[in-house]
Amino acid sequence: MRDKRYNIWVALAIVPLVAVPLYFLLRAIYALPPAASVEAQEVIDPLMQGHFVMIAALFALIMVIMLYAVVVFRRRPGEEGEGTYIHGITWLEYTWTLAPLILVVIFGWWGVSGLAQITSTENDDTAIDVLAIGQQWAWVFQYGDAEGASGAELVLPVGEPVLLRMTSRDVLHSFWVPEFRVKQDLLPEKETVLRFTPSVEGEYKVRCAEICGLSHAYMLADVRVVSRAEYDDYLDVISDLPDPDDFAGWGELHYQAYGCAGCHSLDGSELVGPSWQGIWMRESVMSDGTVVVSDEEYIRNSILNPNLQLVEGYAANLMPQNYGEQFAQDPSGRDIVRDLTEFMKTLSTEPNAQ
Ligand code: CUA
Repeated sequence: MRDKRYNIWVALAIVPLVAVPLYFLLRAIYALPPAASVEAQEVIDPLMQGHFVMIAALFALIMVIMLYAVVVFRRRPGEEGEGTYIHGITWLEYTWTLAPLILVVIFGWWGVSGLAQITSTENDDTAIDVLAIGQQWAWVFQYGDAEGASGAELVLPVGEPVLLRMTSRDVLHSFWVPEFRVKQDLLPEKETVLRFTPSVEGEYKVRCAEICGLSHAYMLADVRVVSRAEYDDYLDVISDLPDPDDFAGWGELHYQAYGCAGCHSLDGSELVGPSWQGIWMRESVMSDGTVVVSDEEYIRNSILNPNLQLVEGYAANLMPQNYGEQFAQDPSGRDIVRDLTEFMKTLSTEPNAQ
């Protein structure tokens, strides 16, 4: 039994020969998109690589030793006796108990400290403050750096820490930009927080990562990481509010800010709800067969009590039922429905006129 083949060090020498290629295989299979935030580069990706190293090393250690034993210690012809009875090796048992325990604690600490950094609610005034509001099925972003500034895309200056506060107007949604490597749920009537620092200028997408109904898969918004100067310009543009009596101009803002755009196109394409293209005074067949003209009264009813009259072919309960309440809390104090109606009046019936 003193044959060199039976030396455990031979088996252990094979372990790295399996582990190293396996590590690179894992990296290739689970290739991540480009990292575009400091947290991706410094926290998440190293943690991911740490897991790959651990998975490759443990898999190789266990499988190589097992297969080595199966092959080298197999029963050969003529061998009839029982195997040698071995009672236990204390140092080995301590090792295989303590080593995994220590590793799990290290990985646990590593993950928790990263999470604490990314979801810290600590106040600081230096971060770019943005409130992200999710609703079925649109994103709205309100910028703390400019009063009244909100938009349907998330624009951020490169290299500056962001404090993203999030909430939902209806059900659970989830903010996820794969390139930033951060993800966090949006909850109704509660604020959640994400912190990250975009590190690479470019265009990304935020996608909803929580099943939230019919158009969940289309709940996307553009994310642009730009220079500080472009960011300031963008805030100037979106905080340049229309004149108080420019009802249609305000209506267009509400169209974005209240997520109407998520379900009602302006170009005639069918989303979750009927397109607003040419909606003013349009005749539509309702689900009960009656024909209704979209005049002011119909539009007001449809926004405030969307289930009362449904256009044929569209399902009930898809549109939020609480727009009355939401509008009553609008900081502008405007008659939102009137503004929206005036905006609708400007929408041509010509295809792609908008
Ligand atoms: Cu919102 Cu899925």
